[in-house]
Amino acid sequence: MNDFLTDPRFAGIKPFESKLWLSSPTMHGDEQRWVDDAIRTNWVSTVGANINEVERQIAEYIGVKYAVGLSAGTAALHLATKLAGEKLYGQARPNQGTLQGHRVFCSDMTFDASINPVAYEDGEAVFIDTEPDTWNMSPEALEKAFELYPDTKLVVVAHLYGTPGKMDRIKSICDSHGALIVEDAAESLGAKYKLNGTWVETGTLGNYNCISFNGNKIITGSAGGMFLTDSKADADKARKWSTQSREAAPWYQHEEIGYNYRMSNIIAGIVRGQMPYLDEHIAQKKAIYERYKAGLADLPVRMNPFDEENSQPNFWLSCLIIDEDAMAPMVRGEQDYLYKSEPGKSSPHEILDALAAFNAEGRPIWKPMHMQPIYRTNAFVTVEGNGRGRTNAYISGSGIDVGADIFRRGLCLPSDNKMTPEQQDRIIEIIHRCFL
Ligand SMILES: Cc1ncc(COP(=O)(O)O)c(C=O)c1O
Repeated sequence: MNDFLTDPRFAGIKPFESKLWLSSPTMHGDEQRWVDDAIRTNWVSTVGANINEVERQIAEYIGVKYAVGLSAGTAALHLATKLAGEKLYGQARPNQGTLQGHRVFCSDMTFDASINPVAYEDGEAVFIDTEPDTWNMSPEALEKAFELYPDTKLVVVAHLYGTPGKMDRIKSICDSHGALIVEDAAESLGAKYKLNGTWVETGTLGNYNCISFNGNKIITGSAGGMFLTDSKADADKARKWSTQSREAAPWYQHEEIGYNYRMSNIIAGIVRGQMPYLDEHIAQKKAIYERYKAGLADLPVRMNPFDEENSQPNFWLSCLIIDEDAMAPMVRGEQDYLYKSEPGKSSPHEILDALAAFNAEGRPIWKPMHMQPIYRTNAFVTVEGNGRGRTNAYISGSGIDVGADIFRRGLCLPSDNKMTPEQQDRIIEIIHRCFL
């Protein structure tokens, strides 16, 4: 591979002295206060004032009645998926998942944490292709999936990189098929969506809604997540399941399988310190997105798109996609890759390697779930119907789907809140040099 530091195309560019991250935690000082408070008062456990307060604050910010603090967004997604499974198909035996024998339609281009809970609950994920306008679940492909598998009653939908999906369409398709929605708003806390003419937060758009406070998210607790709902019964159930499903007996008595999923009061202290800065972080991320958009406008690339009329992303990660005719050759194996430089062209891995050489972190787009080895035998549906087995030795056409195409041509750019405009300009310059 190329040695970018000696490559004449990159002459005059200096590496960053300290690493520029994709998206690292941005602390403000208040976090320490609430962590210290927990330690001083000895609420160093999964109960305490910080948990109560962040649950209240998030519920108020998002506009839901209940927020349940959990150890991770993944825990929230698991409980949300299990709640949906139990609602649809009843309580499962202790050694069985609630979705056993049932299909679940899932966002395809997302982090596997969105959809692994379907497998935890013994369900079968059917992946729904992505649409090019927001890089989220395609409503048209979802409609096709209901044609192919009309008995399906659950849809897991994520908002990629902080950009809301086409939720009006997705909700009305689900309503018309009597299907429930698990909403994965892990990446989109603070993003807004115009639903039937009214602005609402992501995290209110499903029947069961989840957010994450992972270290790289728009605000963080170092870890942590929340389940969001307007249903008191669902909130109570999620709280019960998350604390080992204890019954009201003096000893540990159990009627249901439990989990150790509750949020710690220390983690809640960090989230509590971050909450006042959520809007500031979103504004910073938006400025980063706009600076990239302007700075890269003369290149054969586009930024990750969003619906300007009906959504206000939180701009968690800025991404770009290279125009097809400006793609230099690049191939990926299961764990390795190769590319060639060509004048006027580049490829995601050339750009990522160039960024890394200058001490900046980017990332490939989420590899679609239908392409993941573990899910390769699961069904996959595109706007044309069954997305598997579409290639043919005797008919031309790549058979490539929207998700695979975005994965092939796209990448996530350094999007850290603490990046200065000068640092970002250097990133923009490095990207330009890749296309020389
Ligand atoms: C789309 C998506 N879903 C779920 C998760 C899982 O959240 P957590 O890391 O808090 O478990 C993440 C991020 O980590 C994510 O990006």
